[in-house]
Amino acid sequence: MIEKLEKIINQAKKEAELIKNLIDLENFRIKYLGRKGELTIFLKNLKNLPLEERKIVGKKANEFKEYLERIIEEKKQILKEEKKEIFFDYTLPGRKFWLGHKHPLTQVMEECLDILIRMGFKEEQGPEIEDEWHNFTALNIPSLHPARDMFSTFYLPDGRLLRSHTSPVQIRVMEREKPPIRIVAPGRVFRPDDFDASHSPVFHQIEGLYVDTDVTFLDLKATIEEFCRLLFGKKVIIKFTPSYFPFTEPSAEVAISCLKCLGKGCERCRNKGFLEILGCGLVHPQVLKNVNIDPEIYSGFAFGLGVERLAMIKFQIDDIRLFYQNDIRFLSQF
Ligand code: DAH
Repeated sequence: MIEKLEKIINQAKKEAELIKNLIDLENFRIKYLGRKGELTIFLKNLKNLPLEERKIVGKKANEFKEYLERIIEEKKQILKEEKKEIFFDYTLPGRKFWLGHKHPLTQVMEECLDILIRMGFKEEQGPEIEDEWHNFTALNIPSLHPARDMFSTFYLPDGRLLRSHTSPVQIRVMEREKPPIRIVAPGRVFRPDDFDASHSPVFHQIEGLYVDTDVTFLDLKATIEEFCRLLFGKKVIIKFTPSYFPFTEPSAEVAISCLKCLGKGCERCRNKGFLEILGCGLVHPQVLKNVNIDPEIYSGFAFGLGVERLAMIKFQIDDIRLFYQNDIRFLSQF
């Protein structure tokens, strides 16, 4: 009997190696442990053996049974895992790629630059850490002059400062180059303002400067009007209002009509009708003198616009803080 059992054991071990899938495994189980399985029948026949032999063979047969149960369970787990891995449901819809896009501020910035560069302006960059000369003095804002308040900023311990507007780039370019000069300078600027719905201590501007012989207010007006029409559409009404900036004379503020009511006043523009978008003017003769350009020969115009403001008008956003929170629910709308 013991030899017969050993034969079954050896045979089962060999067959176990060959099991490749769950069907093989089930057949294997039935072959040995099923109701008419080889081991089942063997165990039934044990009772015919004499007691001594029955003990020895019975022990071995039970060990074999445990071995079979264990190996079947193990293989079942492994085969189930494998089956899971290779299972592929071709009927499932494909996964969508998550495509990002440019930040709304970048979009508006690039759109503005696109228009201005097509008009012949060249892009320039200046440093975010500036000195007093470029941020103030050369722009005709002497120390102790009250106009310094308009462009108040953060100071570094060594006396340098964070630029409070992009206008210092005008000075850097004019110090370096001779007219004709036609540049736009986009960038980040800093002001010690509260962080509320309409102010941010860090925001973005685009500066424009054109210096040549015979540049007049008409050139400025035509350039700004064309820029606004390209950015906001042909219907937009553009209004110039006299203003004051130390570095331009005369100076103006430009407002565009609300895109919804075209100037009449509505809930979207809070009944204002017009929204300010930029400051501009003819370059002050003193500024030209400060950079050794002769104001008797040359004249120029300059303008500076706030990118956040334009983006808020364009996309109807009423809280500037939304631009900086990186909330995907907000950003994905633009
Ligand atoms: N620098 C001004 C500001 O930050 C904007 C500005 C106004 C720029 C008039 C100019 C200009 O170039 O001519 O408010």
